[in-house]
Amino acid sequence: MHKILITGGAGFIGSNFVRFLLGVEPDLHVVNLDALTYAGSLENLENLPNPDRYSFIKGNICDRILIDTLLRKYDIDTVIHFAAESHVDRSILGPEQFIQTNINGTFTLLEAVRQYWIGKKGDSVKDVRFHHISTDEVFGSLDSGAPAFSEETPYAPNSPYAASKAASDHLVRSYGHTYGLPYTITNCSNNYGPYQFPEKLIPLMILNAMVGKPLPIYGDGQQIRDWLYVEDHCEAILTVLQHSQPGKTYNIGGENQPANLTIVETLCEILDELLPDSPFRPHSELMTFVTDRPGHDRRYAMDISKIKKELGWQPRHSLDSGLLKTVQWYLDNSQWVDAIRKQQKYQGWIEQNYEKRGN
Ligand code: NAD
Ligand code: TYD
Repeated sequence: MHKILITGGAGFIGSNFVRFLLGVEPDLHVVNLDALTYAGSLENLENLPNPDRYSFIKGNICDRILIDTLLRKYDIDTVIHFAAESHVDRSILGPEQFIQTNINGTFTLLEAVRQYWIGKKGDSVKDVRFHHISTDEVFGSLDSGAPAFSEETPYAPNSPYAASKAASDHLVRSYGHTYGLPYTITNCSNNYGPYQFPEKLIPLMILNAMVGKPLPIYGDGQQIRDWLYVEDHCEAILTVLQHSQPGKTYNIGGENQPANLTIVETLCEILDELLPDSPFRPHSELMTFVTDRPGHDRRYAMDISKIKKELGWQPRHSLDSGLLKTVQWYLDNSQWVDAIRKQQKYQGWIEQNYEKRGN
């Protein structure tokens, strides 16, 4: 039976992955380590399948003594590392926590598994794996018409968030090269779907539109992201864990790259259809252009031919089907939405990021 330590499993992608993994894989025990920052919540983990195969630990990935204890206590053979500060706008307003969690936290985990799995003699334990979850943002920004990012694209991170993720990727790779740590890395494009904290574009727009608040579009709204439904990301991670050789990296993406404006317009159309009695129809009238993000990356696009060819993974959801499922989920889960809306911390963030933005 595999004994898996998942870090950051109370956040958006991590909680979707925990739910997915417990549902599809009978032969494992999942230990979920999460500090429960503003982005993590136990409500994301309610009604998990097979709860007898699951343990939750509240704690910080920078806490070396705790990590050592968990590795030994549960005899962990696989680490899947999601925990991170993940929002670009927050990294612009307060980069320090990104250095602490994304770089020092990853370093702490790597040192702990090095000692537990490899030991002083350098003889690597068989069948262990450190899987690191990373982002397309490490590659920087693409000019229009430039080819999509491949696994060979040189790193050129632009935001403090992207730079801290790039640093963590390099650390993971170096532990493979220097100490023989069996690792894999996946660099994924923008995710969307259930349980995403409403600071990111898609859930923020859905929640604002539902209550008739402005939909703040940065700059000209022509920035391009490569959108992937979170369930497809979960399948890709499991595919890499089960079928990839150690020492490999794979790009993951959704193979659709609409402008932000198109995303927001589509969300408005879906809401117009699902909420025929809303006083805020047409929701597109709520769209408002606001001051751009400093250093805003213009375009991301992922070339996913390697994972398709080598491991046979490809996304199942089209953008239209994924967005429809996502909007429906936020409409159906008003309790989850209300709990976040009520948080002082969330209100504080909205004021800090948007109130002085102006048009
Ligand atoms: P998230 O912000 O929703 O969740 C992060 C989780 O990590 C939270 O539960 C938080 O409590 C936990 N955490 C933060 N600091 C911690 C610490 N020091 N110790 C322990 N736990 C801590 O993030 P997400 O969107 O689910 O992203 C998960 C991972 O995927 C991140 O590594 C991110 O860089 C990467 N990623 C995200 C996207 C995306 O579109 N969201 C795309 C590609 C890659
Ligand atoms: P975001 O969801 O923050 O992800 P990332 O910056 O990691 O790609 O933003 C997605 C895109 O949407 C990005 O180009 C910034 C833009 N955006 C807005 O236009 N308005 C907003 O209020 C937010 C949060 C993002």
